[in-house]
Amino acid sequence: MNSDLARILIPRERIAQRVRELAREIERTYADTEDDDLTFVTILSGSLIFLADLIRELPLRMKIGLITVSSYRGATTASSGSKLLEDLNVDVKGRHVVLVDDILDTGGTLRLVRERVAQAGAKSIRICVLLRKPSKAPPDVTADFVGFDIEDAFVVGYGLDYNDHYRNLPDIGVLRRELYMT
Ligand code: IMP
Ligand code: MG
Repeated sequence: MNSDLARILIPRERIAQRVRELAREIERTYADTEDDDLTFVTILSGSLIFLADLIRELPLRMKIGLITVSSYRGATTASSGSKLLEDLNVDVKGRHVVLVDDILDTGGTLRLVRERVAQAGAKSIRICVLLRKPSKAPPDVTADFVGFDIEDAFVVGYGLDYNDHYRNLPDIGVLRRELYMT
């Protein structure tokens, strides 16, 4: 499976270190929030490994919510719009929410989820992404917490997939060009 990577972009040790730093940033941000009961909404399936590592570094009172969005990539790497596949499974009314996603690319996925969570009555919404691509995202979709800014390459591993494979790779790497259609 590793031989399907052109190269490793972010090795597991750097991911782990940065996840710890992000956790400290998030902790500081919510330190003065008087009703300090948060909900972390993870956007499946890409962010499940990131979420699992992140929240174990966070000594905050929290609940976890799940929402499933398809970014319609299938066997290609180009985004063609996002669609809600499974709705939010928890009540976020009156709660502070952190949306967690693997990567911010065109912003379509996070915009959709943010609208859904706002409609459900969240008190505040912040966005945390592990990766951000050179911003194709429109100015209305910005992340509050960002792990790494990366080049405009198609990456897999640590939860990120190509056609639902490679999520279990512990490092983040660039998929070999000949393995995908753009
Ligand atoms: P956006 O909606 O264009 O911002 O794309 C976000 C979603 O597309 C992410 O949640 C990922 O699932 C997927 N995605 C975007 N870029 C990549 C990539 O380089 N590798 C794997 N998945 C990606
Ligand atoms: Mg994906």
